[in-house]
Amino acid sequence: MNTEKDDVLHSWCVQADWNAPTIVGGSGARFHDDQGRSYLDMSSLAECMNLGHQHPALIRAIQQQAERLCFVTASWGAEPRAELARRLLEKSGFEGGRVFFSLGGADANEHAVKFARQASGKPRGLIVSRDRSYHGASYATMALSGDARTQRQVDAASFGVVRVPPPHAYRCPFGSSSDADCAHRSAMAVGEAIDLHGAAQTAAVIMEANAGTNGIVAPPEYWPLLRDETRRRGVYLIADEVMSGFGRCGEWFAWQRHGEAGRPDLMTLAKGLTGSHLPLGAVVMSAAIAARLEHEMLYTGLTYCGHPLACAVGVAALRAYDDENLIERSRVLGRSLFASLQELAARHPVIGDVRGGDGLFAVVELVRDRASREPLAVWPETPPPLRLLLARALAAGVSFATRGNLIIIAPPLVIAERELSDAVALLDRLLGEIDWS
Ligand SMILES: Cc1ncc(COP(=O)(O)O)c(C=O)c1O
Repeated sequence: MNTEKDDVLHSWCVQADWNAPTIVGGSGARFHDDQGRSYLDMSSLAECMNLGHQHPALIRAIQQQAERLCFVTASWGAEPRAELARRLLEKSGFEGGRVFFSLGGADANEHAVKFARQASGKPRGLIVSRDRSYHGASYATMALSGDARTQRQVDAASFGVVRVPPPHAYRCPFGSSSDADCAHRSAMAVGEAIDLHGAAQTAAVIMEANAGTNGIVAPPEYWPLLRDETRRRGVYLIADEVMSGFGRCGEWFAWQRHGEAGRPDLMTLAKGLTGSHLPLGAVVMSAAIAARLEHEMLYTGLTYCGHPLACAVGVAALRAYDDENLIERSRVLGRSLFASLQELAARHPVIGDVRGGDGLFAVVELVRDRASREPLAVWPETPPPLRLLLARALAAGVSFATRGNLIIIAPPLVIAERELSDAVALLDRLLGEIDWS
């Protein structure tokens, strides 16, 4: 009999190499397979299970909504859709704004671009994005993304996209020696790109408000400077909060770390919006943009926009973040995680840099030589010793995520403190055991 390996085309892998266990259940920060093996999830799967696995309140919300109403299109009203929009506007402080619901992160970003272009009166206006970014794997979002894996599949210019260098202070593309200077130059480069192409031709800048798995955590000065550069030129700023939202960075949304000085014009959401218990994405927009769109025809839509079942689980998710105080918990645990990773860096010379720590999100960058910062492998290749580390961790029942030379640590916000410290201790042991030369 055929198995999943024979019949399913799996994403982001070589089909012949796919050989994953079948997962049949989970609870909290752990999930388990059909052989009874349990795994501690140190990446929230795809940085999306912020509320952990099989959250009881979310399951209940799905069951209750399914009993009442599974689906109506956006031509009809639906109670959970209205409630979720209201709560998102409240949490983000976008009073008088509106929410457009999509099915996930990529189509949220595509729609944010559509809305920015329509509201700015520049239907084909340029969009500025950055190198080493990820906004999705649809064609338009591959064009927006500065992702080495997909760039050859798409001509960004034909999608009206121009790119700027990333605010990557550890390897500053402008050669800065201080984080603050790198932040400054990176933000100025966005302003210069807009000036070069003309603000009248540029509809928006789209950036991740914190790193995704590309592992770049901008210095804190960057985002408010970026906001300033875009505002002064009358160009919208879209914050891609698909990964960084819902507590991942110790706030509801990562831009809120900067208060009003960080407020974007639009932000995109997915993943933690429903704790990934059902697929859902959203574009949240300011009152000014909503007003621009108010009396114009909106030529867009997806059959499942604002699906009532998904919105009901979104409402339950927002309640769970509040009831379990998870945003604050992420902030507190993120700080101690960061401190313990820095202790690891002091013991293991293979660690070149530790970034993040605003919430339960941290990036550990591995290098061949700490002084020269020579990477262990050329980006985006994953060096074989790091693959070995992953395999040994998995054999010990802990699932870590990597990209290139990076270990990405982003566990569910409900992870027990003991689970977190055990995982760091395992990492410590494996870093010491493996031959990195
Ligand atoms: C920052 C960011 N934007 C967009 C996306 C795309 O979201 P989706 O996979 O739901 O289309 C992702 C997914 O990893 C992401 O991390």
